[in-house]
Amino acid sequence: MKEINIGASGIVYEDINELSVVDRNLIEAAIEATKTAYAPYSGFKVGAALLMEDDSIITGNNQENAAYPSGMCAERVAIWKAGSSFPNKKIKKIAITAVSSNKQLDKPVGPCGACRQTMLEYEINQDKDVEVIFMGEVGKVVKANSIASLLPFSFDSSYL
Ligand code: THU
Repeated sequence: MKEINIGASGIVYEDINELSVVDRNLIEAAIEATKTAYAPYSGFKVGAALLMEDDSIITGNNQENAAYPSGMCAERVAIWKAGSSFPNKKIKKIAITAVSSNKQLDKPVGPCGACRQTMLEYEINQDKDVEVIFMGEVGKVVKANSIASLLPFSFDSSYL
């Protein structure tokens, strides 16, 4: 018997200004993507931006539906957009942010569990870590080294 430690670790930046130019550009693309989110029910607009291996950027945002579970998160819209249009391009980073009509989001908004699980499959398939950068509307920014680091004891196709 032994204890193991595979918890998440990351870097916390005080604000967007501490980021590298590349990371800042990516989070700004995610901020831009929040503007066209379709979130009439929650008022919570999420933007995601993927930095691809050729340095192109693919964005996505959440798309809600009157039949609530039929909506989709920004991260999955973005990653499926990349997966469907550019299946052979590797993803280097994903940046995520959100704005809410209820309050100013001053805590970093991390991807939900279902999005972590979905993104993990793409990270495993491309055999290269995907950096995850996330923030709220203002304040601190978190950067994690990989999707896997955000999903300890995860499930994948090797179990099937
Ligand atoms: N949402 C995302 O787009 N990404 C997440 O990781 C968490 C939640 C969306 C789904 C829904 O449209 C709204 O935020 C409120 O949950």
